[in-house]
Amino acid sequence: MASPDRSTRTVSSAHHRRVNPTTQSRLVEHVDRVADQHPPIDLAGVDYTIADPVQLAQRFGPALTYMARVELEVERNVLELNQLLPEPPEIDRRFYTDVWLPQETRHGVILDHLQVLLGFPRSTPDIRSVSFRLKLLGHLGKRAAIQDISRMLYYLTGMATERSAVLAYNALHDGLLNLGEQAAASTIIAPIRRQEPGHFAYYQIAAGGLWAQLMPWQQWLVRRLRTRTFAPVGAGTAEQQADFGSVMRSLDVSIGDQELRSFARQIAKVESELLWATHQGLDAPAYVINALRRAKEASLTRLHCDSRAAE
Ligand SMILES: [Fe+2]
Ligand SMILES: [Fe+2]
Repeated sequence: MASPDRSTRTVSSAHHRRVNPTTQSRLVEHVDRVADQHPPIDLAGVDYTIADPVQLAQRFGPALTYMARVELEVERNVLELNQLLPEPPEIDRRFYTDVWLPQETRHGVILDHLQVLLGFPRSTPDIRSVSFRLKLLGHLGKRAAIQDISRMLYYLTGMATERSAVLAYNALHDGLLNLGEQAAASTIIAPIRRQEPGHFAYYQIAAGGLWAQLMPWQQWLVRRLRTRTFAPVGAGTAEQQADFGSVMRSLDVSIGDQELRSFARQIAKVESELLWATHQGLDAPAYVINALRRAKEASLTRLHCDSRAAE
């Protein structure tokens, strides 16, 4: 919670003044609209009727489990943001604490309940550990020029995350309908999916505004850091990387290299246009494609090991 003192301090800081006024007013308008039109999903409207729990668990269990964890881990993401951006623009803070966090947490609670009904254990999200890298960046971010770089990385991660979520929920929605799971598709996945584009749009507006304000050395550093640190959403460990690969496979977004590249392109579309406009045509950045390929390979390797162990 921000005290009046804190907002006064933020507004008057030199850092805050660097937010471009046009971007600032678009963001305020956007957050007002999202907050107004998208309160957290009402649990009373959720229908957990499952036609065939065994079939649903088998086909989409890993994807539902993964998404439940990622949605619940937003609580840790807010701790990370507090470390990473010691003096965030007030509109960022408002977005992630008042709008984004409550919406995403509710997504997680609903998906977690669904997966428990399918026979999976309760999700055990990591809501505490903030990585050393983020703490270090946060420390360096006491200089406004560095904090702008961290903030740019936050927006880029946000865009890739939200696009990944929309694509995953699109595939889940169609997949559930195909299985005859009408209730879950229309009262769980559809309402969740509807809230993700508003998150994406926030980061898109913020990223476009900030990128144009960065000095060439800052843009260079953003490209370098992004190239070295990109990871698929929720895939912080080797195990989670393999889990992400399994999710991609179950959602049919990585059947062949063409599908995988197309998935990468969609995740990183705005990022490619902003950061790499002059470098590469329409393809996704190589670090995105490679990260997805590694996840898919890790998942296939694990599958292979599991089936050999079962023999
Ligand atoms: Fe969500
Ligand atoms: Fe979201």
